[in-house]
Amino acid sequence: MSKQILVTGGTGYIGSHTVVELQNEGFDVVVVDDLSNSSIEVLDAIEKITGKRPAFEKFNLTDQEKTNAFFEKYRRIEAIVHFAAYKAVGESVEKPLEYYHNNLVSLMNLLGSMRKHKIPYMVFSSSCTVYGQPEKLPVTEDTPRKPAESPYGNTKAVSEDIMRDFARATEGINCIALRYFNPIGAHPSALIGELPVGVPNNLVPFITQTAAGLRDELKIFGDDYNTPDGTAIRDYINVVDLAKAHVVAINRLLNNKQKASYEFFNVGTGEGYSVMQLVKAFIKATGVELKYSVVGRRAGDIEKYGPIPRMRIMNWAGRLRKHSKKH
Ligand code: UFG
Repeated sequence: MSKQILVTGGTGYIGSHTVVELQNEGFDVVVVDDLSNSSIEVLDAIEKITGKRPAFEKFNLTDQEKTNAFFEKYRRIEAIVHFAAYKAVGESVEKPLEYYHNNLVSLMNLLGSMRKHKIPYMVFSSSCTVYGQPEKLPVTEDTPRKPAESPYGNTKAVSEDIMRDFARATEGINCIALRYFNPIGAHPSALIGELPVGVPNNLVPFITQTAAGLRDELKIFGDDYNTPDGTAIRDYINVVDLAKAHVVAINRLLNNKQKASYEFFNVGTGEGYSVMQLVKAFIKATGVELKYSVVGRRAGDIEKYGPIPRMRIMNWAGRLRKHSKKH
């Protein structure tokens, strides 16, 4: 019988792509999501892509009673991939208590259930945000963590600490945190993708919704950063590659390959692109004239994560020089 994996937040952006990859690998997936930032139709899409509909339960994992009842019902779960969390950086500054409550209580309920029901493994959705603005690029696992820039970021740092301490203290519990850089893109079927409820906070869904006419124009947050074109730089990773990283982490745990009860890994490409480069690449690839304007920096934003390979900086600087001569 195939191994059963719980994916919390499994109808969300990274969650849904991970459910697809886990099912493609033959795992039996149960999804828990409260649908606060995703839609139930995602399950139809997953079924279309993989030929299999994951089991689904709708509730919020901060609810201890519902969480208990869930684990009483699903007794075959061997590992958890935990995505379910609030993730809007700006909103977290406005509503810190809601963010700490939702993101931390759900994690602790899950860890308590792991101990109670002898579920040994968890893969946790963490973020490069735990590094703050690093002094040196590329960011590696040896890069020191810095105080978070937002309550959202702090929930990730504190969650990591809770998991580390719990895994160390509890015989038989092993956890891996994956610190993602910026996931973008969609499954090649285009049946699932990044579909947040309401106005998107993140760059790529804002670009695509502007191109589709749902938003008036894209606002580029700041062009006065210390980068070749002045816009901020991120390390963008394809969401399907990121989803596959979760399958690797799950297999590492199931096959007892981990070197410590708590491990963390960065997941990115190791290369950076600026906001402006991304916008230009979108326009070039789609032929859609995207309306955009530059506004002030967004509070809490980091200047750069990904290093830009030297050759690319030289070419790029050359192009910028040519461009400025023309004007
Ligand atoms: N940006 C714009 N205009 C927009 C949206 C974003 O210019 O409308 C810029 C941002 O200023 C930033 C870059 O595009 O320079 C990427 O921004 P995103 O919001 O897409 O992602 P972040 O790099 O801010 O990532 C943050 C956290 C992650 C978290 C992610 C998801 O650092 O940990 O948001 O919410 F996972």
